[in-house]
Amino acid sequence: MSKDIKRIAVFTSGGDAPGMNAAIRAVVRTATYHNLHIYGIVRGYDGMIRGNLRRLETSDVGNIIHRGGTILKTARSEEFRTPEGRHLAHETLIANDIDACVAIGGNGTFTGANIFSKEFDIPFVGIPGTIDNDLYGTDYTIGFDTALNTAVDAVDKIRDTADSHNRLFFVEVMGRNSGFIALNTGIGSGASSVLIPESSTSIDDLISRLKKGVKRKKLFSLVIVAEGNKSGGAMEVARQVKEKFDFYDTKVTIIGHLQRGGSPTVLDRVLASRLGHSAVDALLNGKAGVMVGVINDKVRHTSFEDAISKEKGVKQELIRMAEILAL
Ligand code: F6P
Repeated sequence: MSKDIKRIAVFTSGGDAPGMNAAIRAVVRTATYHNLHIYGIVRGYDGMIRGNLRRLETSDVGNIIHRGGTILKTARSEEFRTPEGRHLAHETLIANDIDACVAIGGNGTFTGANIFSKEFDIPFVGIPGTIDNDLYGTDYTIGFDTALNTAVDAVDKIRDTADSHNRLFFVEVMGRNSGFIALNTGIGSGASSVLIPESSTSIDDLISRLKKGVKRKKLFSLVIVAEGNKSGGAMEVARQVKEKFDFYDTKVTIIGHLQRGGSPTVLDRVLASRLGHSAVDALLNGKAGVMVGVINDKVRHTSFEDAISKEKGVKQELIRMAEILAL
C-alpha cells in the first residue's frame, strides 16, 4: 500500500450509466476499509473546476446499489478541455489535499483524465461507465447490460404492435459511433436486420433482405439501427427504404434516453462492484493513468491512451450470425 495516498476523490462524468452508483459505493467502501478519506466531486470535471466536492462516509453510499443515474451527478465539461479549466481543477485538488482520483465514465472522461495526467502529478484511475461499451480494455462497460435489457424490452413491445398491424419498424438505439448496443439488441430481440457503423449494409442490401422475408410470408419486420449508422439514423433509413420498397406500412421508434435510465441489472451491479473495488486497489498499488476493466473474467489495467484510442471492435462472427439467424 502506497504511504502517499490518504485522500481520494471520486467522480462521474459524461453520460450517466446504470451501475455508476454501485461503482461509487464500491470505491467508497473499499477506500474506507483502507482507512482513506474519500471525497465525492459533484458534476464531474465541472465540479472539479468549481471546487464542488464533499466528504463521503460509508453510510452516504447505503441504499444506492440498485439506483440508476449517479448520486454524484454528471456533466460534459467544455471548460475542462481548456488548459485554464484544467489548471483550476488542479487547484481544487491541491486545495483539498486530494492525493489521487477515481474517474467513472467513458471515452470523453478518459480523454480528459489522460491529458490531465500528463500535465499534473496526481494519479488518476478510471472505471469504464458508459452504456456504449466502446472502450478498449474491458469486455463490458458498466451500464451496457442494463441498456441492452431496456432496449430489448422495448423491441419486444414494438414486436407486438408490428405483428398486429403487419408493419415494418425501424428502431433506433444509442451507442454513439459504435454498434455494440444495436447488434446485441438485434440478436436478443430476433430482429430481421441490424444496421451498425461497423458493417457495410447498404439500403439496397437491406431491401433485398426485406424482400426475402416477404417471399417467405413474413408479415412484419423489425430493423435495429444504430444511431451512428453510416447511411443515417432510423428516420433517414426508413425514408430511403420507403422510396424503393413500400410493401409494408413503415414506422420509426427512437428509444433514446430510456436506454440510460433504470435500475442496473445484476451483471452491471457486480461488474461495477468489482471495478470500483479494483480501482482503489490499483491506486494503492501505485497505478496511475490506467482504466480498470474485466477481460475474460480477470481484472486488467489498460492505459487511458489505449482505452480511448484502440478499437475494441464488434465481433464479425456475431454480425454474420445475426444475419444467418434472421434469414
Ligand atoms: O455515451 C452515452 C450516450 O448515451 C450515447 O449513446 C449517446 O450518443 C450520447 O450519450 C447522448 O448524449 P447526451 O445525453 O449528452 O445527449
